[in-house]
Amino acid sequence: MTVHGTGPVGSPRLAGRTALVLGGGHGSPENGTDGAVGAVDTLATVDTVGIGFATATTFARHGAATVVVDRDADAAARTVEEIRRCGGTGHGVVADATDPDQVGAAVAETLRLTGRLDVVHNNVGVTCLGGPEELTLDQWRATLAVNLDSVFLSAQKTIPHLLRHGGAIVNVSSTASIRWTGYPYPAYAAAKAAVNQLTRSLAVQYADRGIRVNAILAGLIDTPLVYRQLAGGRTVADVRAERAALSPTGAMGSPYDIAHAALFLASDEAAYITGTLLPVDGGLHVRAA
Ligand SMILES: NC(=O)c1ccc[n+]([C@@H]2O[C@H](COP(=O)([O-])OP(=O)(O)OC[C@H]3O[C@@H](n4cnc5c(N)ncnc54)[C@H](O)[C@@H]3O)[C@@H](O)[C@H]2O)c1
Repeated sequence: MTVHGTGPVGSPRLAGRTALVLGGGHGSPENGTDGAVGAVDTLATVDTVGIGFATATTFARHGAATVVVDRDADAAARTVEEIRRCGGTGHGVVADATDPDQVGAAVAETLRLTGRLDVVHNNVGVTCLGGPEELTLDQWRATLAVNLDSVFLSAQKTIPHLLRHGGAIVNVSSTASIRWTGYPYPAYAAAKAAVNQLTRSLAVQYADRGIRVNAILAGLIDTPLVYRQLAGGRTVADVRAERAALSPTGAMGSPYDIAHAALFLASDEAAYITGTLLPVDGGLHVRAA
């Protein structure tokens, strides 16, 4: 039996590991290219980070050589800069997570840079407001591509390497995959529900070959995406108040709430946990049941 957690006080939990964070860039509320109507006053009033940034920097703080993949080169560079500023090991790779060749190249670059792969964190995601009467088929397909194809392609390109000595995949899903959370975005909800079952299916398929696959169902989290994609031209204060009122705790969660759950699922402390869908949502999924 392997005994975990017996190192000296302060032992980093991912020492000697390589973590690949897809969608790990540090975006801003302004720089989205998704065409959604953002908040009217983001530039002056929002100071938050994405879940990918929070997770990549947390993994690096816990000793992982961390490869940050993002389609936005500046966003990836900002995360890597923060990792290095804190004394960690970080590398940036530009790739579109919906493109098989680019995902394959990003994985190959990870192996070239660090020589191994242990943890894969699939953070890429996009919301798209509107139902069947409002969305075009192209918008529906694009939403599925970013949220679901990205997880499939990541699994396809990384599992052959994870099989060498085992590893952990953490997928970022949403409370919206199992509940109505107040937003009319069925394409997003359906894509994330598919991510859940992809997670569970892969978990069982690879359970006896050393790969664990889990998902986090994130609730109402204070990230740039919220002000870029869900504001619909309202003020930041209005968006914050609305989301706080929706949460049982009376406040949005921090991206670091998700990052710490991801760190646990990625670490050996979760060695016997696979196929789990872990809500990190301040109880939102219970109240909306
Ligand atoms: N913010 C929330 O309240 C919330 C709630 C539930 C789930 N989530 C999920 O958490 C994840 C992260 O969300 P966030 O709020 O931090 O978003 P974010 O927009 O701040 O971060 C997502 C990152 O992914 C990158 N990205 C987007 N499409 C890409 C692509 N095709 N290829 C490569 N990179 C791409 C973006 O450039 C950005 O850096 C998403 O999967 C989202 O669905 C967020």
